[in-house]
Amino acid sequence: MSPAAPAAGSQSRTFTTIGVVGLGTMGAGIAEVFARNGHAVVGVELNDEAVERGRQHLEHSTGRAVRREKMTEAEQAELLGRITFTTALADLADAGLVVEAVVESMEVKKAIFRELDGIVSPDAVLATNTSSLSVTELSSATSGPGRVVGVHFFNPAPVQDLVEVVRTVVTEPDVLTDVQALLASLGKSPVVCGDKAGFIANTLLFGYLNHAASMYEGRYASREDIDAAMRFGCGYPMGPLALLDLIGLDTAYEILETMYRQGRDRLHAPTPVLKQMVTAGLLGRKTGRGFYTYEGPDSPVVV
Ligand code: 3HC
Repeated sequence: MSPAAPAAGSQSRTFTTIGVVGLGTMGAGIAEVFARNGHAVVGVELNDEAVERGRQHLEHSTGRAVRREKMTEAEQAELLGRITFTTALADLADAGLVVEAVVESMEVKKAIFRELDGIVSPDAVLATNTSSLSVTELSSATSGPGRVVGVHFFNPAPVQDLVEVVRTVVTEPDVLTDVQALLASLGKSPVVCGDKAGFIANTLLFGYLNHAASMYEGRYASREDIDAAMRFGCGYPMGPLALLDLIGLDTAYEILETMYRQGRDRLHAPTPVLKQMVTAGLLGRKTGRGFYTYEGPDSPVVV
């Protein structure tokens, strides 16, 4: 059963240009999703080096589609040609929607929202891809909190269909409808939920991931057997420890910490090995080592 979509024709905004602030794994993936669907995208990063990393991420991800013959080189060039890169938020003046996907820091995000508020048109929608911070608190940094909404994509954003649309108590209904319609037009499956750390999917998922890490920590079973149990017994595309490596252990730790702080559910109290691995720099695929060892972000498991 598909999630409920807004009625056809009920959309009041037309989104042409989309701004994406932050071109890390999630931001670059989100930029790709919009550009794939014909939108002009303006991607903003902190400095030239970060812009270059974002550009490389996009080239790499679309290059994979070319290698798999899902896209021609000409289509790849066209897609990349729809994305402009900048270090200035002021270049987002024409964006109808801005998706912020920077580091999970309330202060950093609030500063961006405060600045964006004075740049975009009064009708533009400001969205955050936060996975656990309060969208309501973030919206309070703007003069129009009614146009602020959460749009939480899943990793890898070009592949996963789900997007959680997070409404605050003051999000305007037309903003919600327009964003849902836009996401549906991208082939995504939006679901709507309230503003509580973890939203729907992470609240359910991270208790399970945390439990798997704790099982591994207690030497109850090997990493391979824990992962195989969920893949072959429950039909998950990847096991929990491999998924933690994909998400990034630092990100996973932060999400668990925030959910635990807010909900005090023991399921979300990060199991100690996660913190130890983060401290040791074993962040998963992005650093080449987590529960498993990798040769690069896309390589299969080496050890
Ligand atoms: N970026 C873009 N595309 C990617 C990709 C990436 N990083 N990784 C894989 N793909 C594409 C491939 O190109 C391929 O596309 P195609 O079907 O058009 O050829 C397709 O995905 C399948 O890839 P593979 O054949 O290489 O590998 P798998 O079939 O094993 O799929 C997977 C890989 C998509 C990662 C799959 O294992 C999966 O869905 N895993 C679960 C991921 C998941 O649970 N994500 C949610 C994490 S929680 C989260 O994001 C919330 C946040 O707040 C932390």
